[in-house]
Amino acid sequence: MSAGTRVGYNERQRAMLQEMGIRVWAAPAVAAAVPVEVAVMVPEVPAPAPTPVSRPGPTASPPVLSSVVPLQPSGVAAMGWDDLRAAVASCRACALCERRTQTVFGVGHPQAQWMLIGEAPGEQEDQQGEPFVGKAGQLLDNMLRAVGLTRSDAPAHEQVYIANVLKCRPPQNRNPEPQEVAQCEPYLQRQIALVQPKLILAMGRFAVQSLLKTGEPIGRLRGRVHAVPGMPGVPVVVTYHPAYLLRNPLDKARSWEDLCLAREVLAGPARGS
Ligand code: URA
Repeated sequence: MSAGTRVGYNERQRAMLQEMGIRVWAAPAVAAAVPVEVAVMVPEVPAPAPTPVSRPGPTASPPVLSSVVPLQPSGVAAMGWDDLRAAVASCRACALCERRTQTVFGVGHPQAQWMLIGEAPGEQEDQQGEPFVGKAGQLLDNMLRAVGLTRSDAPAHEQVYIANVLKCRPPQNRNPEPQEVAQCEPYLQRQIALVQPKLILAMGRFAVQSLLKTGEPIGRLRGRVHAVPGMPGVPVVVTYHPAYLLRNPLDKARSWEDLCLAREVLAGPARGS
């Protein structure tokens, strides 16, 4: 699709867009305005990991560090799915292991074309062992349905793979700490290497900044195609976190633009335009 092309929606997509809170008549114009910049943005010098901003809330009691065993990333880099899943399930590489109900590995097609990456499990994900099962997850499912995708069983071009930067829930859903991200990173890197997605959709500041190794805000990163440092072949599109969209519904139109950009990137350059 070339810039300026209007997108037609069927009844089901219209219903889904409305479910996302996007007025259907406006969506094609918004999508058409997205500048598709195919040049992949790779940071020349990886910026330092972002400094997390603490969320207000009850102070966590000091972690019990006695059973923490730092991860050996070299072992993870050679693992297949079964070993990787087992390694995550038994991971004790940071103090988050002390308080989790269970780890949250990921869900979806092991060879999905779309890979979605979020921040960390919340309370419901910690209980159920699956990413994005709470309210934010319901919005995410609706957004996916609007572009013909699902997390449920489907062929690889329709079923996404969803994973988080962290596999364990931070207490009171506080922001991930840099050393937690560092310990968990080999797992996500291996998941990306095994899925070999054609596109990564990074959702929310934490996923975006830790994946791209940048401190830039989402607003400055949207609308362009990026790459994970060290993985130049996988385009990354940046968008808002679904939980943010629940609090800021006006930005749903922007996230729709991001989904349209992702879809265009995956479709490749338009022929004959
Ligand atoms: N938020 C995330 O980033 N991931 C989840 O799995 C749930 C909420």
